[in-house]
Amino acid sequence: MSIQRSKRLPVWWAMITLLMILSPAMAQEATSTPVPDRDAAHLLRVPPGFEVTVYAEGQNFGLPTQIAFGPDDNLYVLSLAGSIYRLIDEDGDQFAETVETAFWDGDLNYITEENVEQLEALPDQLYHAVGMVFDDDGTLYVSDSGRIVELTDGDDDGAFETVTPIAEGLPSLYYEGHSNNGIDIGPDGHIYVGVGATSDHGPLNEPMEASMLRVDPASGNVDIFATGLRNAYDLVFLPNGDLFTTDNNPTEVNRTLRLIPPEELNFIEEGRDYGFPDVYGNPPAGDDSTGPVTEFYPSVTSAGIDYYAQGDFPDEWRDGVYVAQWGTGADVLVNRDLLFGFAVVFVPLEKDDDGLYHGDFVEFARSATDRAADFRPIDVRVGPDGALYIIEFFSSRIFRVTYTGKMPLVEATAEPEATAEALVDAPPEVLVRGQTLFNNGARNAPACVGCHRLNTEENSLGPSLLGLKDVAGSRVPRVGAVEYVRQSILHPMAYEVPGFNAAYMPQNYGEALSDEEIDALVAFVLSLEAPEND
Ligand code: HEC
Repeated sequence: MSIQRSKRLPVWWAMITLLMILSPAMAQEATSTPVPDRDAAHLLRVPPGFEVTVYAEGQNFGLPTQIAFGPDDNLYVLSLAGSIYRLIDEDGDQFAETVETAFWDGDLNYITEENVEQLEALPDQLYHAVGMVFDDDGTLYVSDSGRIVELTDGDDDGAFETVTPIAEGLPSLYYEGHSNNGIDIGPDGHIYVGVGATSDHGPLNEPMEASMLRVDPASGNVDIFATGLRNAYDLVFLPNGDLFTTDNNPTEVNRTLRLIPPEELNFIEEGRDYGFPDVYGNPPAGDDSTGPVTEFYPSVTSAGIDYYAQGDFPDEWRDGVYVAQWGTGADVLVNRDLLFGFAVVFVPLEKDDDGLYHGDFVEFARSATDRAADFRPIDVRVGPDGALYIIEFFSSRIFRVTYTGKMPLVEATAEPEATAEALVDAPPEVLVRGQTLFNNGARNAPACVGCHRLNTEENSLGPSLLGLKDVAGSRVPRVGAVEYVRQSILHPMAYEVPGFNAAYMPQNYGEALSDEEIDALVAFVLSLEAPEND
């Protein structure tokens, strides 16, 4: 292949190279790590009833770009430099103790103007590996800078040694970070790949840029399946054969683009134009480009995507896509105060009578530390076990999220049923005690009324609690009204009322108030009637 690249190395490239220098050398041999504390609730916040543990930690995968389950049900990690690691959970304890190098890319991980010739001289290297997929026969394809390659393990020793190009000459790295990206296999057995634009927001320079391509693995034929996608980073086929991709928005604000537009989730159909570089988000009336299924916030940097169908997740968290949103890019000067992303979001997908999809996103996972950027998810993958695996970019940590239906915090404080009933219909002296605490607070427990006003149903910093008694029992599956209100006071972060920030509510009521005081507050809150409608 010939390596034609932009002369200008991007800002994030410099940042990443620096990180590589600071990182310890990559492990070439199989390594074992001691078992760390697996519970990851202190690192990642997931909805109530879900449990998050660490599946792999302490490994250095370079800069991971994708994860995928192989035909052996092991999880594989692809690094940007091109190495591939196989993670093995030998004892079935949901933690991968062993990491094997399935493809070693050598030490020349990054193309610079100095080493480009040296790299070209080396056989069987990958240069900028962003996508990986195993087909039904277990053949491994990788989307590498400008080409799609097949990796083979001729001597069956568990390590791939041969790199065979399937398709070449795709526009790659003319613009920072834009290449042929994530790949998936369609129902027709062809490989689909999103290819980034050669510029931030136009004009178009290359016939195959900013598009979704279809590659026939048998002939190597490449054709353009859809156009108008700025940088479709990853894609997924639903079981019904429908194709979805995310699209990243521009970041260079200037005279031709005055605002950073939203990012997109797109339903891709053959021959359609998705608007780039003329239209972002929903097209204006009269424009015949195809709009997105969902508009994401600007600058979320949507990366890996996967579809959740089979597994234990409850109805509201299945039959839709999970999207890893890496978070606002390194170029903070350009992005100003846009700090979106740093989360995994879920978009339920149901086809309407018009044959199209309409959906909105909900947040699924976000850093539990006080710094959002501690969590930069780069890929998500649904495992054969129905768990959701998430890989974090800078730590290489892999999280495993399962649904247990357990509300552990509530169980620890759950009341015998008789006590719970007593609180719903509490005697007047208990209600008065609760009201006093609510309005005045106690010792170092701030008054509730500061954030929950009682004279109006309008929300303040916290939601109005008037009439909460009617809905408290249905907020969280299998958690009754009394337990729910108790949990809201003791552990505000366990469930967040949509539209509010649970971090605002004092987190110390459990220590500051006695059990009897908490009971009185629960009883009082559950006595608050909804305002009469007139
Ligand atoms: C500094 C502001 C603040 C104070 C003080 C405060 N809260 Fe909250 N409260 C919030 C916010 C914000 C939320 C919504 C986020 C969440 O779900 O935790 C909330 C949520 C709640 C909920 C859940 C409401 C729902 O609709 O599901 C209950 C119940 C509640 N608070 C009770 C109390 C009680 C009782 C006190 C006093 C002991 C109190 N709060 C003190 C801010 C506050």
